Amino acid sequence: MTYEIAVIPGDGIGPEVIREGVKVLKSVEDTIGTFDLSFEKFPYGADYYLETGELIPKQDLSELEEKDAIYLGALGDPRVPTGVLEQGILLNLRFYFDQYINLRPVKLYPGVPCPLAGKDSNDVNFHVVRENTEDFYIGLGGRVKGRSRKNLEITRSLYKAKFDLDIDVDRDELAYQIGVISRGGAKRAIRFAFELAKEKGKKRLTSVDKANVLSHSYGLWREVFKQVADDYPEIETEFSFIDAIVMWFVKNPEWYEVVVTPNMFGDIVTDLGAIIQGGLGVAPGGNINPEGISMFEPIHGSAPKYAGKDKANPLAAILAGQMMLEDLGEQKAADLLEQAVAEVLAEGKTKTYDLGGNSSTSEVGDAVVKKLEER
Ligand code: IPM
Ligand code: MN
Repeated sequence: MTYEIAVIPGDGIGPEVIREGVKVLKSVEDTIGTFDLSFEKFPYGADYYLETGELIPKQDLSELEEKDAIYLGALGDPRVPTGVLEQGILLNLRFYFDQYINLRPVKLYPGVPCPLAGKDSNDVNFHVVRENTEDFYIGLGGRVKGRSRKNLEITRSLYKAKFDLDIDVDRDELAYQIGVISRGGAKRAIRFAFELAKEKGKKRLTSVDKANVLSHSYGLWREVFKQVADDYPEIETEFSFIDAIVMWFVKNPEWYEVVVTPNMFGDIVTDLGAIIQGGLGVAPGGNINPEGISMFEPIHGSAPKYAGKDKANPLAAILAGQMMLEDLGEQKAADLLEQAVAEVLAEGKTKTYDLGGNSSTSEVGDAVVKKLEER
């Protein structure tokens, strides 16, 4: 069995952490010996964009379609205006491959310092299922200035309809962004979360929204959640508003088992999730299309400040590789990799600066490989 993996190292620290991830994955492949991983690199990112003016050429998308999975580093570069690479590459791939789940385990491994007083690895261990293709991420919106007559009319009518205000649009400018939740989109994400809870033997699923204020879109989300919940009577359910759950993640992380959330709240709570599991250096994520091609990445950004310094923590990328193996159906390999990472963390001898050590990126990768070889 050979798995074809597209590798997109990307920008900043992306190439360094992905290099370690590939190194570790090759070592797992050797240790297990029942499958092959074939990696092909794709150059998307700031350099490629600045050289060619392209983000991802159309014909490349069909090449990526032939792959079994995508392994991505990070995107973003100070030479390119913010959002261009993130939207043109990362979000483009999530949407193109309809990766409608962003799965983010929040797991504090023994040996990793946690910023929450009195909490340890028994207290922080849950999954966030983030819907990944809807909400405010669909890019629907606009910006209206009082210059052209058409814009003037749109602005006036939006304000009039909503606030019954007659505004002087010559002096005003407005921007609007529309978040869309569809019944089908909410349903597939919520169902995935229930199935995950069932599969992992979890007893509770928490749904996040802000249906008290943004009642059009999140009202639908809540309605769909209740309907899907009927199919899973064995799983306890609850609703939490986004503002409340960020507080409870800090106060009682041990309460959470599986959390399902619309896209943007999911973006926000998973950075909080990352910090309570020891930081972005150890937080992986998977952009999953259960019926198609999924993409695995550390959830951290490109951290340009640390690029090329061999300082960044590669464990988030390595753990993203672990999620990729699991998704490919190689559970034994995934478990082995996770154990190797857990051993390195528990020992605490080889760690990067973010975990209080001074090991290099490559030393951490090597330490994980060594654990694998000892088996
Ligand atoms: C993430 C990132 C992305 C997001 C950005 C880079 C577009 O923050 O993966 O969480 O907002 O989804
Ligand atoms: Mn984010």
